[in-house]
Amino acid sequence: MRQNNVADSGAIKKKMNGYVGFSNYPNQVHRRSIKRGFNFTLMVVGESGLGKSTLINTLFESKVYPGRDDSAAVGAVEHPNGVEISSVTADIQENGIKLKLSVVDTPGFGDSINNEESWKPIVENVESRFDAYLAQENRVNRSKIVDNRVNALLYFIKPTGHRLRAIDIEFMKNLHTRVNLIPVIAKSDTLTPREVEQFKANVLADINYHGIQIFKPVSDEYDDPETIADNKDIAGKIPFAVIGSESFVERADGTKVRGRQYPWGIIEVENEQHNDFVRLRQMLLRTHMEELRDTTDVALYESYRTQKLLAMGHVQDAAVFREFNPRVQQEEEARAHYAKMQKLEAEMSAVFQQKVQEKEAKLKQSEEELHSRHKEMKAAMEAQRTALEEQKRRAQAAMPVPGTAEPMYQTQPRKDKKKLFGG
Ligand code: GTP
Repeated sequence: MRQNNVADSGAIKKKMNGYVGFSNYPNQVHRRSIKRGFNFTLMVVGESGLGKSTLINTLFESKVYPGRDDSAAVGAVEHPNGVEISSVTADIQENGIKLKLSVVDTPGFGDSINNEESWKPIVENVESRFDAYLAQENRVNRSKIVDNRVNALLYFIKPTGHRLRAIDIEFMKNLHTRVNLIPVIAKSDTLTPREVEQFKANVLADINYHGIQIFKPVSDEYDDPETIADNKDIAGKIPFAVIGSESFVERADGTKVRGRQYPWGIIEVENEQHNDFVRLRQMLLRTHMEELRDTTDVALYESYRTQKLLAMGHVQDAAVFREFNPRVQQEEEARAHYAKMQKLEAEMSAVFQQKVQEKEAKLKQSEEELHSRHKEMKAAMEAQRTALEEQKRRAQAAMPVPGTAEPMYQTQPRKDKKKLFGG
């Protein structure tokens, strides 16, 4: 006989009678992540002088990336066509959370007379990072895998105010399947707000026309309206028109802010009316860092690895490959488990919310009942008072005015007085 609580998949659905404790799983994950810290690799690409190092240092509020002048500190690999790949790593900490940040710069990109293949060394570098990861995954001991895969690529678009240039299109077309591409309009303070708006529309039109995939926050996997609205707002700002500044300027009210000083006034880095820096920072560091890491691992790296292994003569199709890959399976299970936990947490929070609402409604009802009872009592007392006053008034009206009426009783001398006292 089939049990009522057996789901189609064969899993038994059980409602628990008490607190078991596994709903604490998200907190366990959170604690473990705090202990371990995070790795994040950010690549910056754009012509020389577009403000790449300034923006990185503005984003992390410290000189994590040295300028070209002090670039001796940076390990660089030069390529024949003039593009170098250099990287710096900084261990930064905020509220006890450790972040190992690697910034990969690509000086020389777009600076040659012939920039036709400027993108090539960059693709090679991104892929070599995937290869290094793949090699470590295939080792017997995989306990200490070093992950240097690029999690996001900030592509700096020159603020021409026109359209994307051939070099931009070529670059993005060759990199978009390998990295989370985030296009930014550099030095947007050199354009008027109207020009920025028009330029953004042109850039987006070109991106769509060439079928270039860019990283965009999605809204449909969230339930919370505030997050959905936030994600829509961030997505609406892409390509981010940014400004960077490592120095502070004084506002009219005397406060000091990061910004750029002009004879006609100041441009503030963190003012959303002036540019999209705040939204870029929000997406990159505050709300979508984990999604960027996740997409790198699950979508970009996986597709590269499948292609690579197939090209190497592994003829299984991608689905079979996934099926027999324990790591992918493990990850899929972990993701499904995490999603389940999140759902459970959301459900628990909804029940709690509902309980609070019910209690509030009950309290409100009792308050209203009390109020109406008080009103009734007040009305009854009022009626009683009016009735008493009426009685009093009538009684007073019936009483004679002293000296005007006949006395009510007349004293008569008692004739039988003697008799009474035996006299
Ligand atoms: P390379 O190191 O040569 O690749 O340059 P870069 O892209 O790292 O540019 P960098 O950050 O060194 O900035 C170059 C110059 O542009 C500096 O003088 C900065 O002060 C200036 N700059 C940086 N960001 C902005 C910006 O948003 N607006 C304006 N107007 N100037 C900026």
